[in-house]
Amino acid sequence: MSDPCSWSRRQFVKAAGTAAAVSVLPVSPVLASAAPVRRRYAMVGTGDRGSGMWGADLVKRYPDILDFVGLYDINPKRAAVAREFLGVSCPTFSTFEELCDKAKPDLLTVTTVDAFHAEYIVKALDRGIDVLTEKPMVIDEKQCQAVLDAEKRNNRKIIVTFNYRYAPKHQLIKETLLSGEIGRIVSVDFSWYLDVYHGADYFRRWHRLKSRSGSLWVHKASHHFDLINWWLGADPVEVVARAGLEVYGRNGLVRHTHCRPCPHKSACSFYYDMTKSERRMKLYAGCEDVDAYYRDGCVFREDVDIYDTMSALVTYSNGTRMNYSVNAFMPIEGYRLAFNGEKGRLEIRDFERQPWKVETETEIALTKSFGQRQMLPVPIPEGGHGGGDDRLRDLIFRKIQVPDHMRLPDSRAGAMSCLTGIAARTSVTEQRAVKIADLVRL
Ligand SMILES: NC(=O)c1ccc[n+]([C@@H]2O[C@H](COP(=O)([O-])OP(=O)(O)OC[C@H]3O[C@@H](n4cnc5c(N)ncnc54)[C@H](O)[C@@H]3O)[C@@H](O)[C@H]2O)c1
Repeated sequence: MSDPCSWSRRQFVKAAGTAAAVSVLPVSPVLASAAPVRRRYAMVGTGDRGSGMWGADLVKRYPDILDFVGLYDINPKRAAVAREFLGVSCPTFSTFEELCDKAKPDLLTVTTVDAFHAEYIVKALDRGIDVLTEKPMVIDEKQCQAVLDAEKRNNRKIIVTFNYRYAPKHQLIKETLLSGEIGRIVSVDFSWYLDVYHGADYFRRWHRLKSRSGSLWVHKASHHFDLINWWLGADPVEVVARAGLEVYGRNGLVRHTHCRPCPHKSACSFYYDMTKSERRMKLYAGCEDVDAYYRDGCVFREDVDIYDTMSALVTYSNGTRMNYSVNAFMPIEGYRLAFNGEKGRLEIRDFERQPWKVETETEIALTKSFGQRQMLPVPIPEGGHGGGDDRLRDLIFRKIQVPDHMRLPDSRAGAMSCLTGIAARTSVTEQRAVKIADLVRL
């Protein structure tokens, strides 16, 4: 294969309609570019994502390059359970400062509740530690400025773990747009559907509070905003948005603190029986006496202050406009997306879950103006998040060679995705258009 970093526009055109279009970032890391360097790896926030994707999975996948040197969580019991899940012998610490000073990591993964990412990112950078952070990088503009400033003053590196980019179907969309087949993108239609299982789950936990998640505008939509920024190769400029809380929270007729002791469980469609998951009973129920974090919290609690239905109009630096919506109480999970170009339309329907059988999980159709419709063959993914999780991890830890457009997302990508959501949230509360440039100094 030729050097993937120097792929020409013609090669993209050729690849766009074929499964070969995704082979530039192989599912298995066959293009290791340099001998991997051993890293002293630590983690803050040892919940589900930390102990799984960035914990136990890494212990299995990269024993030759990662030394787990320490874990910290505000709930010490959860840190101890996570260490058991990981099967590592490194210590858990009672403060973050102690973790840094005693374990001396050179790479920190931040997988706490969203509101605390910024604090740990800044502290780590100020100690000379590189950071891998889960999305969203920050939940408000003040945190965003602090993180960008800390990265600059310390000359360290942040990677934001936007796994969605690395799903083969999303790479195929990127490369089809890069091919120029549909010309300049004038507008985008993007509707994301979260169902009564996955969508509801955000209302059970800390995500239900703006002060913890920044709302789904930031927690969830930042994934989608990052995809759009990357697909378009453009920055968001202005956002106008509206939103409401229509199904969860105070809309419920009955409620309780959480599902296990709930007197309404037999009548409630949203009843979730956590006792069936041994992992969750250990990681959450077994630790809830410390922090009253109920993983099976009631979706109808009156303190829910985020939205479950959201719409936005976003304009981009290249002149593209996007109509975006997300609804979190749907009978289906997946999305509809279309890029409307001067020379044609790229249309995607993603079926993640629905109460009927589908022939294929993702349909991608390329229709040329005055021409024909062509269905693009979509590679069948393996692994979490459409195949994105494993490919992202191999790229981070094995440092495989990739073309420019598949390089790891940096702090700028983290900022731009969050800022779109922050602007949308502000637009809803202040009922005005919000300019991204008014939020931070980049
Ligand atoms: N990229 C993805 O697809 C994806 C998927 C799931 C989760 N995530 C992200 O991973 C992160 C963790 O999510 P999760 O589902 O594991 O949540 P979780 O609730 O299971 O875990 C969060 C952990 O943070 C700890 N914590 C809370 N406040 C803290 C503080 N001040 N200091 C230290 N620890 C603190 C909690 O005790 C808990 O153990 C979130 O930021 C989320 O957005 C990303």
